[in-house]
Amino acid sequence: MEKPLILYIFLFYWHFLNALFTVEAPQSLYIVEHGDNVTMECRFPVNGKLKFGDLNVSWEKKEELKKQVYVLLKGQEDLRNQDSDFKGRVKLLKENLKLGQSLLQIIGVKLRDAGVYHCIIGYGGADYKTINLKVDAPYRAITRRIVRIGNNEWKLTCCSEGYPQAEVIWQNREREDLTDRANTSYATGSDQLYRVTSTLTIKSRTDEDFYCIFWNKELQENTSAVLHISDSDDGVLWTESRRFVGAIVVVTAVFGSVLLFMFCVRKARASKDYRTPVASSLIAGLSKDKDMYDCRDASFEEKELKYMQIEKT
Ligand SMILES: *[C@@H]1O[C@H](CO)[C@@H](O)[C@H](O)[C@H]1NC(C)=O
Ligand SMILES: *[C@@H]1O[C@H](CO)[C@@H](O)[C@H](O)[C@H]1NC(C)=O
Ligand SMILES: *[C@@H]1O[C@H](CO)[C@@H](O)[C@H](O)[C@H]1NC(C)=O
Repeated sequence: MEKPLILYIFLFYWHFLNALFTVEAPQSLYIVEHGDNVTMECRFPVNGKLKFGDLNVSWEKKEELKKQVYVLLKGQEDLRNQDSDFKGRVKLLKENLKLGQSLLQIIGVKLRDAGVYHCIIGYGGADYKTINLKVDAPYRAITRRIVRIGNNEWKLTCCSEGYPQAEVIWQNREREDLTDRANTSYATGSDQLYRVTSTLTIKSRTDEDFYCIFWNKELQENTSAVLHISDSDDGVLWTESRRFVGAIVVVTAVFGSVLLFMFCVRKARASKDYRTPVASSLIAGLSKDKDMYDCRDASFEEKELKYMQIEKT
């Protein structure tokens, strides 16, 4: 009769001690944009001065096999079994430990970082919490191309990278749906992103506008670009990405003169065969080049980078 009683007392105290030590997660879901940094937080009780030697902190990612993200063992970093996915990309903000905060920072979040994390803390007692990380990638930077393929016949191309898979909708100035006449292809881009390229072949007079809309159903987000058909070589295309119109106006005001100057120089240089990558500046020139446009053009990345910078300003 004695044994079960001891067990009962032990269990009681174990629960009692554990109840005293509780890990909290102030935020159980983080939604981060691809490429950004994220800091996920757990809190634990520290009464008085933190004794590092008694502290064990662990962050794990739950998958078929759990992956070790970060381990602090008796106050010492122990990355021997750290999963290669996280090597050099995560850090624990140690200065916050004494405040009872276990802050894990992931730098340059990738799509495959999305998932369920456990933050485990042992300090006297032990406890853990579960945190979800969602990663998305809006179709932000849209590269465009206009190619004349015949008399009043044009091939319009829009291309962008993002996640999840987006539909591309085409419209004219009257907002009529032209999607039936377009061809959209999907390829895998960098870090599991979708590289979506859509081409609309259409008869049109000059001085017309067409819109390609990247519809990211899952994010409930549309980004669009306008393609202006103009017969004159002076015709310029302005990138229109709704979320950044304001930013672009500011940038235009600042760099407008520089761009104009560059544009003029470039135009003078490339008089007839205008092969300069159109997307390398915010101004895209009208091209009569008949080559297929390849979105994998280095200028695409360059433009995306510019957008990222604009966003931050
Ligand atoms: C992410 O963190 C790194 C290292 O702390 C820093 O250099 C970089 O600027 C951060 N990036 C963003 C988008 O905040
Ligand atoms: C789409 O592309 C395929 C193959 O390149 C072609 O046969 C088809 O005519 C295109 N469709 C449209 C609507 O342009
Ligand atoms: C995005 O655009 C499509 C087509 O114009 C529309 O059907 C959809 O409702 C739009 N979604 C949002 C979130 O604006």
